[in-house]
Amino acid sequence: MSTVHILFENEAWMAPLRDALARRGLPVEEHFVEGGTLDLASTPPEGVWINRMSPSSHTRGHQGGVAFVKEYLHHLEAHGRRVINGSRAFALEVSKVRQDLALRRAGIQTPHTIAVIGGPAALKAAARTLALPFITKHNQGGKGLGVQLFRDLDAFDAHVDAPGFEDGIDGVTLLQQYIPPAGGYITRVEIVDGVFQYAIRSSTAGGFELCPADACAIDDAYCPVGESATFALRPEITADDPLVRSYVRLMRDEQLDLAGIEFVEDAEGQRYTYDINGTTNYNGTVEAEHGLSGMDALAALVERELRGSREAAAK
Ligand SMILES: Nc1ncnc2c1ncn2[C@@H]1O[C@H](COP(=O)(O)OP(=O)(O)O)[C@@H](O)[C@H]1O
Ligand SMILES: [Mg+2]
Repeated sequence: MSTVHILFENEAWMAPLRDALARRGLPVEEHFVEGGTLDLASTPPEGVWINRMSPSSHTRGHQGGVAFVKEYLHHLEAHGRRVINGSRAFALEVSKVRQDLALRRAGIQTPHTIAVIGGPAALKAAARTLALPFITKHNQGGKGLGVQLFRDLDAFDAHVDAPGFEDGIDGVTLLQQYIPPAGGYITRVEIVDGVFQYAIRSSTAGGFELCPADACAIDDAYCPVGESATFALRPEITADDPLVRSYVRLMRDEQLDLAGIEFVEDAEGQRYTYDINGTTNYNGTVEAEHGLSGMDALAALVERELRGSREAAAK
């Protein structure tokens, strides 16, 4: 039987995926990646590959993870391997610039965003072209890297001049229109293989919401929100919601097999989409309460793909 290969970097997020694959009895091989060596004359193992590489791997000391996977996905695809969230999806994963462009192309409203490469002077100049308040964030993000709200330019200038200030890991920092979240929450829509799973709300009280994964609640070193973040199902958002339909179309066009897509709604009911997470993590508490499982939807997709590749090999 052909194997499910998982490319991953963050052990903390692996348990739910392992469990979902094990429940279906699928044979799994895990590949922890923090860099690596790739002989381009080699042939990658047979099977279906799942890309779970985190764009914030560098914050856990796994500097080479993203760079290795970026190239390795091309190697896999050149050999015809099926990759769940392959090279095209990963290009979006590591660039909020590309996410914004893809969202705009799909006709989805996004917050006004300016990408800056060039350090404090360039950032200060760019800040003067954007309305206040705005937020900063890293282009290659995840878990709220570099996310900070600025209501005046003096505070921003002091921030970028401070000794501890760092551009994003790829040298790209974003300045983005701040959308005050109506009701104090943002919404995350989970989609797997073109199928809407559910939407959850995430409280922004006490700071910026980061990631709905259970692991983040214990990852205090990285999480300025910690236990103050609360998550709940938004049952009124369904597969028929025009925004959800747009997400499904975008994912098909961008070859995203699964994603958690985040939007914030303002007081006028305008919805702005700002984050596409291909390595989405599902909130276990909400799922248990409502009998949902994003990871099982992923495992079901993998099972279908494995069966398909076995049938193709038998022909
Ligand atoms: N334009 C925005 N307006 C208001 N809040 C935002 C905006 N962008 C991000 N946030 C808040 O910051 C959090 C982290 O930003 P996000 O773009 O999702 O980065 P990450 O990829 O690190 O998750 C969001 O979940 C949301 O709570
Ligand atoms: Mg986010």
